[in-house]
Formats: sequence, structure tokens, C-alpha cells
Amino acid sequence: MSIVKVKTEGGAYSIHIAPNLLQQVGTSIPPDATSVVLISNPTVFGLYGKTVLQSLEASGKKISVFEVPDGEAYKTLETLNSIYTFLLEQRLDRRAVIVALGGGVIGDMCGFAAATYMRGIRFIQVPTTLLAQVDSSVGGKTAVNHPMGKNMIGAFYQPIAVDIDTTVLSTLPEREIAAGLAEVIKYGLILDAGFFDWCEQNVASLKALEPEAIGYAVQRSCELKAYVVSEDEKETGMRAILNLGHTFGHAIEAGLGFGTWLHGEAVGCGMVQAAELSARVCGFPQADVERVRALVAAIGCPVTAPDLGTDKWIELMQIDKKAEGGKIKFIVMPGIGQAKSQTVPREDLMLVLKKTTQKR
Ligand code: NAD
Ligand code: GLY
Repeated sequence: MSIVKVKTEGGAYSIHIAPNLLQQVGTSIPPDATSVVLISNPTVFGLYGKTVLQSLEASGKKISVFEVPDGEAYKTLETLNSIYTFLLEQRLDRRAVIVALGGGVIGDMCGFAAATYMRGIRFIQVPTTLLAQVDSSVGGKTAVNHPMGKNMIGAFYQPIAVDIDTTVLSTLPEREIAAGLAEVIKYGLILDAGFFDWCEQNVASLKALEPEAIGYAVQRSCELKAYVVSEDEKETGMRAILNLGHTFGHAIEAGLGFGTWLHGEAVGCGMVQAAELSARVCGFPQADVERVRALVAAIGCPVTAPDLGTDKWIELMQIDKKAEGGKIKFIVMPGIGQAKSQTVPREDLMLVLKKTTQKR
């Protein structure tokens, strides 16, 4: 098993990574827990619920299960309220522990439920998508959506453990794997040129989920994310680099309608756009832009963005949470493995949009 440590003011915890780890989730339950509530959705619970339940039962605690409907459309205050109601009906006290079994939707929503139920109870992330294993389960960003914006209601609240079983990725649809790999590549681009090279060399093994390759990719991604959130838990500075490609990506997701492209697909394409922008504003070599484009294409994500119309692109990018006083900030790369946040001249942005988009 690999163990990656996260140390923040909001809490220190371990990320455990191993094949077949679902069978050991029960060992992460703290001895002083009074009870455990496993929260999942029918898709994931149908596949893995029994294994996790068996492991939790071995902890000797009172166990209850709550399922919420599957999908981003249910990452809402209404679903959150149904979780609170269940916790109250079960008479769960402050020493209860939530186990979140699922992708980023389950993890984000359970994290926020844990942050707010009785002013905060402990929770464990058991992420089952690649995106959740390398990104959303680590670092304590929790949220639900509001009709006026994604992830607008939330809190920074750290789990007490993250238990990652890499074998569960075998049941993920191919598009979800590609979307998760986009976030893996992101870590190489912003922090670790050697890891980016390694991803280029191992792309076929990663796509095939070969255990050694995917295990290393998950571990290295978690190490790099743990480093960033340990430095800047609440995104007052450095953590913003984790948003490489996200300003373009959010505009694609919102412009086409959420769910048309997966988040990771939009981020993959957005990283190609960010690389083109970096070439214009901070000397990122054009040859490296082509490497980014080739790797994003190789994992199976789109590399050409939809033409939303210039005004719409700008309007959507201004809604991004990183925008300050109407000015759009972008994460750009002086080179592979380096990233910084800056505003960019409008004419450079226009040229990049022209070069990277195509009419639908
Ligand atoms: P998701 O949670 O919707 O999961 C995608 C689909 O895969 C769902 O239908 C799910 O039921 C299914 N699934 C999950 N595990 C499976 C498995 N092992 N086998 C088969 N099917 C499985 O989507 P996601 O991509 O995991 O997460 C997206 C969410 O994460 C968004 O809401 C986004 O805002 C959030 N997010 C949060 C952070 C953060 O830092 N907190 C970072 C990135 C994304
Ligand atoms: N997914 C971006 C972050 O955790 O900050």
C-alpha cells in the first residue's frame, strides 16, 4: 500500500492507495466513533456496496446506509437536506462518521454534509472515479450546486482519511477514464516535468489501467495535490495553479450546457488552450504546446474547443470564481512543470480563442 500524507490547518490525514482496498475501509474508522453511515448512489453501491459494508461491519460499529440519486443534477441543497434528515432520523451524534463511496459528486456532497451536520462530524473519502481519486477527494473542497452556479455553496473541510482502491476503476466508462487522466496530466504540467514525460511514455498503459502504471499515476497525483493543499489549504495563492485549463474548461461546460462534455474533457481541452495562451504571454515553447495537444488527444479528450462566439466566451470566463473585479485570471506556464496566475492582454486571448475553437 502507498501512503501519502496531507497536512493542513484544517486537519492532517493519510491517503491510502492500493488495489482491493475496499476490503479494508473498516480499519479507517476511528475507535471512538459511535456509528458509521455509508453514503453512496445506486450505481456505485450496486457494484461495491457489499464489499465496503462487510469491511465496515468488521469495525463493530452501528452501520447505516443512505443512497442518493446518481448524477451532478442531484448535487443540490435538496439532496443535502435528505442526507441531514437521514442522519437526524438515525439519531447520529457528533461522534458519527460518514463514509462517502462514489465519485466527486458523492464526495463533495458528503463532505459538505459532514462539515455542517451538528457543526461538523468526521468523514472518510472512498473515491471510485479516477477524477475523484486524483483530485476531488483530496484537499477538502466540499460543495453542492446552486441553480445560479456550480459548487457555489460549500466549505473547506478535510476528511480524516482517503481510501483509494485502484481496482474499482475497471468498471468506469472509457470517457470517465479519459476525463480523469486529463487531471493526472495537469499535475505534470503545473509541477513536475518528469511526471509529464512519464505520462507521455506510459499513455497506453494508463488508458488500459495497467495496475502498476495507474497505481503510480494516482500516487504521484495525490503527492502533488497533497503538497499544494498543504501549502495553501484555502486557495489564497498557490492552490490556484490546480485550476490550469479550468477557466477555458468551465466556459466550455457552461456554454454547451453542463454534462455535454465531462468536466475532465473540458479541462483537457482547456489545458491545450492554456498552453497556447502561455506561448503568447510567457514564452512557453510552441513545441511544448504540441506535446500538450498530442498527449491530451492520446488520452482520448477533445483538443479543439467549441466556437461559443467571442462575447459568450468572455462572458462565461468572467463568471469563473478566479475572476477579480471583472478581470479574468488565467493559470499560465512559463515551461512544463511551472505555473503561475496572471491576467492577460485581451488581444492575446482573442488570438488564442480563434486558433483553438471551431464552428459546431
Ligand atoms: P461523478 O461523481 O458524477 O461520477 C461519474 C459517474 O461514474 C457517475 O454516474 C457515478 O455513479 C459513476 N461511477 C463512479 N464510480 C464508478 C465506478 N468505479 N464504476 C462505474 N461507475 C462509477 O463524477 P466525477 O467526475 O467523479 O466528479 C465530478 C464532480 O466532482 C463534480 O461535481 C465536480 O464539481 C467535483 N469536483 C470536485 C473537486 C474538489 O476539489 N472537491 C475537484 C474536481 C471536481
Ligand atoms: N480541484 C481544485 C482544487 O482542489 O483546488
